Amino acid sequence: MAHWWQTGIVYQIYPRSFQDSNDDGIGDLPGIIERLDYLQWLGVDAIWVSPFYPSPMKDFGYDVADYTDVDPIFGTLSDAEQLIAEAHARNIKIIFDLVVNHTSDQHPWFLESRSSRDNPKRDWYMWADPKPDGSPPNNWLGHFDGESAWEWDEATEQYYYHTFLAEQPELNWRNPEMRAAMLDNMRFWFDRGVDGFRLDVSYRAMKDAELRDNPPNPDWEPGMDPFRRLLEPHTRNIPEIHTFNKWLREVADEYEERVLIGEISLPFEELVKHYGENNDELHLPFNFDLIHREWTAEEIRSSIADYEAALPEGAWPNYVLGNHDQHRFGSRTAPEQIRIGMMLLLTLRGTPTVYYGEEIGMLDGDIPLNRVQDPWEKNVPGLGLGRDPERTPMQWDASPQAGFTSEGVEAWLPIASGYTTINVNNERSEPASILMMTRSLIRLRRDHAALHLGGQTLLDAPEGVLAYERQVEGERFVVALNFRGEYTAFAAGDEGNIVFSTYMDLPPADSPLRPHEGRLLRI
Ligand code: NOJ
Repeated sequence: MAHWWQTGIVYQIYPRSFQDSNDDGIGDLPGIIERLDYLQWLGVDAIWVSPFYPSPMKDFGYDVADYTDVDPIFGTLSDAEQLIAEAHARNIKIIFDLVVNHTSDQHPWFLESRSSRDNPKRDWYMWADPKPDGSPPNNWLGHFDGESAWEWDEATEQYYYHTFLAEQPELNWRNPEMRAAMLDNMRFWFDRGVDGFRLDVSYRAMKDAELRDNPPNPDWEPGMDPFRRLLEPHTRNIPEIHTFNKWLREVADEYEERVLIGEISLPFEELVKHYGENNDELHLPFNFDLIHREWTAEEIRSSIADYEAALPEGAWPNYVLGNHDQHRFGSRTAPEQIRIGMMLLLTLRGTPTVYYGEEIGMLDGDIPLNRVQDPWEKNVPGLGLGRDPERTPMQWDASPQAGFTSEGVEAWLPIASGYTTINVNNERSEPASILMMTRSLIRLRRDHAALHLGGQTLLDAPEGVLAYERQVEGERFVVALNFRGEYTAFAAGDEGNIVFSTYMDLPPADSPLRPHEGRLLRI
């Protein structure tokens, strides 16, 4: 029997930006509950909700001050429980976000840890002595500014390590008490019915015990992200990370049918090791390769082929086109690529994760300087690293705040231009819209085992076309995606019947692919 997280579609919600229910300009859990009927109508099987825990919001919730409660901005613990119940009532699974690598500096654990060198929780975080000249213990760099990742603590005269903001101190997973406490935080939510976790930068959770320097990156040049100046053999994906994965997996396995999804950015050969030698680590190490490859039929074909070739026996693939850290798909490529992008995501072998708004073709918002929120953009301005553009409010309708919040309320980020046409209401009434296309694809995937479970074979295709077959016994489909803005002949065998086109019509079987058209043929 296949697992729900293999056959299903995951939908990511960035809670600040989905639906505001109390007119403070920030989305919240009751807002998500209000929109569950929409998600059920769309046909997704699971939602992953980015962090909503109590937080000083230095990194908008990825700085957690309490793993077992809800920030008042987002609601209450009982709202979280209601969200789980209401999602389940609609047959939608719930995945929460577990920030395993660091906490907020306001987490009671860290407040204790920094209070004195002999505090019992001192070792729950990564503290180290300065070098003899007073400088930081090694050369490790911070992700959000490219400067030393070590923060000096005047009171106790040691440095603490933080990959992200100084307000996000790094946990020490080698400490058994901290580990037990964090694993109990997982159980807290599993006991309340949560179906899984997305694990924030899970591959960074263990660091070199000897704190060795990272080597320089020979490919780095001025003008690039300053954090990339060094390679990172000692701060991510170190051998002990597989022990860490197993600690978490053992807890997930105490429950039925739970899923662990790892946020991991690594080349395939290293990425796939996170499934575990016996599939005993993470169920789904995120595959971000579609985001990083050049968007051409040939590059995407080789991404799929390389990934499939690297996957170990029994490992289930997955794909992602966007998330809250990446510019939106249609803005990275071009708006006319959105339809085939969506079709690719929803017809490949493996679990797709859809980022909120992708289903309507949302694009990056323009963020005026005085509206910048992301600390990364504030620290390293102008390089396009900031993540506000892809986090703008969900576009529900054409009213002044796009239905995200009430008229007259200022949303925490500006509504993206184009929302008067790119919105759920409008697209629900347009039979050929991106939304209706996405929903049809979701239906097709759900209705056909070949698409949600079947095998996959890449096919030969003319330049600019990506084609593959999906099959189970007695059922065969061919997907053909035209990446180019030109008509291109493509033959998928004689008996091919077109059952779907991204143009939302059914053209004659022998007609050439139209510009940027994706087709599904039943063979
Ligand atoms: C990865 C998250 O996706 C990102 O949004 C966050 O800033 C960092 N981890 C730090 O938690």
